[in-house]
Amino acid sequence: MRVLLLGGSGQLGSEIRARWSGDEIVAPPHAAFDLFEPERFADAIAAASPELVVNCAAFHNVDECEHAPERALAANAIAVDALGAICAQRDIALLTISTDYVFDGDANRPYREDDCARPISAYGVSKLAGELLALRRGGNAYVVRTCGVYGLHASRSKGTFVDRVIAQARAGEPIRVVNDVVASPTYAGHLALALRALVETRAYGLYHAANVGPVSWYDFAAKALELAGIAHPIEPISASAWKAAARRPAYSALANAKLERLGIRLPRWDEGVAAYIQDKGL
Ligand SMILES: NC(=O)c1ccc[n+]([C@@H]2O[C@H](COP(=O)([O-])OP(=O)(O)OC[C@H]3O[C@@H](n4cnc5c(N)ncnc54)[C@H](OP(=O)(O)O)[C@@H]3O)[C@@H](O)[C@H]2O)c1
Repeated sequence: MRVLLLGGSGQLGSEIRARWSGDEIVAPPHAAFDLFEPERFADAIAAASPELVVNCAAFHNVDECEHAPERALAANAIAVDALGAICAQRDIALLTISTDYVFDGDANRPYREDDCARPISAYGVSKLAGELLALRRGGNAYVVRTCGVYGLHASRSKGTFVDRVIAQARAGEPIRVVNDVVASPTYAGHLALALRALVETRAYGLYHAANVGPVSWYDFAAKALELAGIAHPIEPISASAWKAAARRPAYSALANAKLERLGIRLPRWDEGVAAYIQDKGL
């Protein structure tokens, strides 16, 4: 399959480039295909002539989005709508990535695709708008929500949450992690493989795709240290002790209900972190 991949240098995009080995992937850099320049999309898509556009690019700094909601909407919604329009016009399939942050966090079991989305941040609003705009034409579009992505190619210089926890423990530094925020942290390598299986089905629509099982960030950090063979205490703290511009859902684990009905299964969250530690040689 010939694929135009946006955000190909990021955590998920890098794993797609590495793991979709049978496909011909064109991955323009950020500067050559900027979400803030939708007027340039048509020419760039025509030049790549893809069968599938995969959008892993986003403005996803949650606190910055809170201060610049118009930029969040431009990158995460208006740009996705522009991609959707061009893809529909040219009969190209579109896969765009969304987020657990479309939910408010009031649940006590993993969110399914048919649960009501009620975002509590500008980022969440912008991603939900992008979902609706991508799906509004009813064409060949997949929207895939995922959660707590970590991968070998973290875009920020400080690395992933797992990298930081392991580095702090090895340095003998105190580690404090929230124990009242529950999610489904997802290894980008596992997600990339599930997305490839999904596009094989041509069963378009909205999906959840995350490593399986709810886990608090505290328990996730403890498992990462255990798997890395490090004995080091972690102090549990409450999210209320952590001040940030944007509100975040306290519970945002995802259930992959629709993917599983297609026979596509992601590994459990602890298998995700084990694979990451092994692949990264931590
Ligand atoms: N990370 C998470 O915890 C998480 C959780 C749920 C959902 N998601 C969603 O998953 C998707 C992939 O996330 P990720 O973790 O792989 O992100 P990432 O590692 O930060 O990568 C983002 C990619 O998008 C590119 N990009 C950023 N701004 C752009 C712009 N204005 N125009 C074009 N390209 C731009 C980046 O390029 P440069 O680095 O060159 O700027 C990079 O290649 C996103 O849709 C995100 O919203 C992420």
